[in-house]
Amino acid sequence: MKRIGLLGCGAMGTQIALAIDSGQIPATLTHIFDESKEKSALLIEKLANKPEIVENSHLLSSNPVDIVVEAASQDAVRDASLSVLQNKKDLLIMSVGALLDESIYDILSDACKDFKKTIYLPSGAIAGLDGIKSVKDELESVSITTTKHPRSLKGAKFFETSSSDINLDEINSSTVIFDGIAKEAVSLFPANINVAALLSLTGIGSEKTAVKIIADPNTDKNTHHIEARGKFGKMTLTIENHPDVNNPKTSRLAILSAIETLRKYCSDDIQIGT
Ligand SMILES: NC(=O)c1ccc[n+]([C@@H]2O[C@H](COP(=O)([O-])OP(=O)(O)OC[C@H]3O[C@@H](n4cnc5c(N)ncnc54)[C@H](O)[C@@H]3O)[C@@H](O)[C@H]2O)c1
Repeated sequence: MKRIGLLGCGAMGTQIALAIDSGQIPATLTHIFDESKEKSALLIEKLANKPEIVENSHLLSSNPVDIVVEAASQDAVRDASLSVLQNKKDLLIMSVGALLDESIYDILSDACKDFKKTIYLPSGAIAGLDGIKSVKDELESVSITTTKHPRSLKGAKFFETSSSDINLDEINSSTVIFDGIAKEAVSLFPANINVAALLSLTGIGSEKTAVKIIADPNTDKNTHHIEARGKFGKMTLTIENHPDVNNPKTSRLAILSAIETLRKYCSDDIQIGT
């Protein structure tokens, strides 16, 4: 049985922990950490098999786990990832936006090789990364348009720094909030647009991946529309996600994608797909 350490006990971390506890992921959750002690305690209450709560994120990987699962924040990725690899543990990252910082990406990529460990980035709230990966060398353009209810965009750094004076509470029809490149989008909407980071890392990079973010008060979905063109032809994908009930910024598919990635990591089985 693989042993798992969990960093982040919010909406996603809780569902991952429950999937381990129920046997859906054939593994043992041995250690957890959240900067909010309340969140870790709340999670423990929900589990039949109780993991140990550690005092800081670095203690997750100094314990005998096989993999640390990050479901916390970009800051947590910046703070803890290198020590996980140095402690010779695999790592699954959900706050993928942190990797668009090239220095972080390069340090972690080198550490994977040096310590012979793997970082897993689940497809998250989108589908089709298998196809994008296959046509990577033939891509000429990639774009993603994300449409969410204004409440799902609340709290983003963009609204503090933007001179555009957008008040999310006053939006009464579909409104383009951001039109630019992935690199910028990920730093201005860190909790909302991990999918643009994933798409960039898989395809033609964060400076060439076009991103549009639309706030629509009439939608109850998190919708991602991806278009990729090149010598191979054209790919168009639309994913209409239901937001998680506990965190409207996070889509149900993103949670299920983390669970499936971990299930695959923990199982000896036939692996389907690219
Ligand atoms: N890859 C994807 O497609 C995708 C999709 C949705 C969410 N995400 C990302 O996954 C992460 C988790 O999402 P969520 O819905 O569970 O969020 P959440 O806000 O419900 O939970 C995050 C938890 O992590 C804790 N936390 C934050 N920073 C921390 C740190 N530095 N150290 C320890 N604990 C910390 C918080 O206290 C909170 O309990 C977020 O960063 C989110 O942006 C990725």
